[in-house]
Amino acid sequence: MLALEQLKECLQSSGQEHVLQFWPELSEEQRESFLQQLRVLDLPGLRRHCEGAARAAAAPAARLDQHIEPIPAEAIGSVQTSDETSLEHWRNEGLLQISKNHVGVLLLAGGQGTRLGVPYPKGMYNVGLPSNKTLYEIQAERIHRIQELAGLKHGSKCTVPWYIMTSEFTLAPTERFFKENNYFGLEPSNIIMFEQRMIPAVTFDGKIILQGKGKIAMAPDGNGGLYQALVDNKVLEDMGKKGVEYLHVYCVDNILVKMADPVFVGFCVSKGADCGAKVVKKVSPAEQVGVVCRVQGVAQVVEYSEIQPETAELRGPDGELVYSAGNICNHFLTRAFLLDVSETFQSQLKQHVAIKKVPFVDRCGNLVKPTKPNGIKMEKFVFDIFPFSRKFVVFEVKREDEFSPLKNADGAVVDTPTTARNSLLAQHCRWATAAGATLLDVHGNPRVSAEDSPPVQFEISPLVSYFGE
Ligand code: UD1
Repeated sequence: MLALEQLKECLQSSGQEHVLQFWPELSEEQRESFLQQLRVLDLPGLRRHCEGAARAAAAPAARLDQHIEPIPAEAIGSVQTSDETSLEHWRNEGLLQISKNHVGVLLLAGGQGTRLGVPYPKGMYNVGLPSNKTLYEIQAERIHRIQELAGLKHGSKCTVPWYIMTSEFTLAPTERFFKENNYFGLEPSNIIMFEQRMIPAVTFDGKIILQGKGKIAMAPDGNGGLYQALVDNKVLEDMGKKGVEYLHVYCVDNILVKMADPVFVGFCVSKGADCGAKVVKKVSPAEQVGVVCRVQGVAQVVEYSEIQPETAELRGPDGELVYSAGNICNHFLTRAFLLDVSETFQSQLKQHVAIKKVPFVDRCGNLVKPTKPNGIKMEKFVFDIFPFSRKFVVFEVKREDEFSPLKNADGAVVDTPTTARNSLLAQHCRWATAAGATLLDVHGNPRVSAEDSPPVQFEISPLVSYFGE
């Protein structure tokens, strides 16, 4: 264990000695907890991290416009344009893999959800459905149902393990919430929570930010921190023991997410892919989603901030957006590919710069909440392993069935609790109508199903129906 003197030396040699400026004022207890925090820092890599962050933030934002081209339409599988036979083939393949315990789901839940502005993990959010279910409960019930559907079809009892990547901010409350809710009836040993790493936030001149006299401002290392976290927490070994060969990776905030979607899994498996991304057609050039495209010939996601509006607005002869493949953060990854990534490619992952308002203590030790951005957080992105894939596929799905994210608080124009709730209820109305129901308003007049606003308040439990069956 590093002693204080050694820590001092390391900090000094990285140009970060200011971190200990309040040391004499700290109580014994505060010193102990600060030492613990300092000891887990990547001290040998500290100078590189801090200087690299400052350099990256000072460099002009990377614009990839010159280097990108769309994924050719023929290389994209699609729910909309595929015939029923293909869809059924993929669905059956997916259900078969699930029934053999080959499929797991992996939730990315280490983010802080700052835009939504709640002090607890986003998955615990209740968007105000008639059932009052939280996002976690809906997801858990979809796991129940898909296990049941695969089991019924193949006469087996199967399990879809639920891997949940959390961070220092989200682990404890998420664990508590699952326990309090009796793991939503799932087997606790099949819910595997693990923590991603945290890295220091730094100022524009490369100095670590102190968030307290004895506390560094730390932030999760981005959802691409997944690959390091899989290694740190021996998750790939656990998958191996459980027989899981395929992972459906998804982000926490999409109320319509299809857990372990058999059609997507079956599509990727049938194509022999080691990596896949689900996309929806972008609604407008300005929609804030990443775009799956090719950069210098290699498949990649380019975030909306990385291309100029003119490029985002380009349209083809048919009037459709050229860059329309909107990333919905639903990925297919094989365990074999993840092993390759962890052994070979992990260290090559790009670092992205996020400029943020980071609370800090001033010279006198007073906490300041900045009104303008003052800090840099470096992040890796989950999709930055796409270029290393041997066979990468894209699968386009219907937005109204699969994508309605919760990003902002009510009052914002898009991606709010209200839009998420309406998307889910509208879907359930469509399912009921397709099954022969007539929806009536309070006066008994028939109401028609809609894409994004429910004609009536009508909710179906995921325990009853997964696809609308
Ligand atoms: C993400 C995608 C974007 C896509 C959009 C669709 C990334 C990097 N970007 O953007 O291309 O169009 O979703 O909704 O994937 N998370 C962690 N650890 C972290 C940071 C985030 O686990 O350190 C998790 C979050 O909890 C969340 C997911 O990653 O579940 C996505 O993060 P978020 O910040 O919401 O990404 P977006 O900017 O919305």
